[in-house]
Amino acid sequence: MKKRIVVVGSANADYSMRTETIPMPGETLSGSDFQFALGGKGANQAMACARLGGAVDFIACVGDDTAGQLALAAYEEAGINLEHVHVVDSPTGSALIFVADSGENSIGVAPGANARLTPTHIDAASQTLCDADYLLMQLESPMATLTYAAAMASKSETRVVLNPAPAQLLPEALLRSVDVLTPNQTELATLTDQPIDSAEAIQMAARSLLDRGPETIIVTLGAAGALVVSRDTCIEVNAPSVTPIDTTGAGDTFNGALLVALTEGRTLVEAVRFANHAAALSVTRRGAIDSIPGRVEVDGFL
Ligand code: RIB
Repeated sequence: MKKRIVVVGSANADYSMRTETIPMPGETLSGSDFQFALGGKGANQAMACARLGGAVDFIACVGDDTAGQLALAAYEEAGINLEHVHVVDSPTGSALIFVADSGENSIGVAPGANARLTPTHIDAASQTLCDADYLLMQLESPMATLTYAAAMASKSETRVVLNPAPAQLLPEALLRSVDVLTPNQTELATLTDQPIDSAEAIQMAARSLLDRGPETIIVTLGAAGALVVSRDTCIEVNAPSVTPIDTTGAGDTFNGALLVALTEGRTLVEAVRFANHAAALSVTRRGAIDSIPGRVEVDGFL
């Protein structure tokens, strides 16, 4: 039987447009390619798991609106178990995204229904959570709910992977329940309050987090790949070189792919290599969920 992944997290409607550069404060830029698409870090990660062949349950809230209905239909079609996706009386979360010609983005998120995910929803899914092999979370849901879910998982045999995005400080109680933490450089700087201006600084900052709970820190480095840091090792895993069109959701694809590879029994380094390739493919096309590659494509690329 396939090992199971539970994703606790956000579901958003993404409204994006391309601009030559990211608008500065007070600046109005002419844009193009306005697009509505499904996103949200939780949903993107759950979709990445499903598209890459993982068995995934999603615990989330969407609104009783068109975006919520479209989201449910898309998740179901992808094969995600929706038993614990709740329709609540708030608009579906939404994100406004500017994508620059360089492929970089800038995102504002209004949580909407995501703010309604409570520990009661986690209790309702406790059997699913405790039977799962992995719990994957990000930081677009209420911190109290995430902390509760992580504590429940860590009391059972469920391994907890936290993608600390978007960057913010974490309660120590949450960090203590985490097995694998996957920050990018900005998130690492926020979590450690240390300057991240060299390879040594990244390694030192990551190591400082090992004393606070996680046994492994995977620092994602964009085009440079990722650094896997644990007590005894520090291993660089390169990413394939691609021309980025849009980096939205690349971190989410990385995390979903990482979990799928781990549930298949790959080593951490092999799993990061798989995730690097999936994320690299995702930046070669537009959007979040729309850009997540399928399994055949990633295997071929590897
Ligand atoms: O990580 C990308 C995601 O961040 C987007 O889909 C957007 O919804 C925001 O949550």
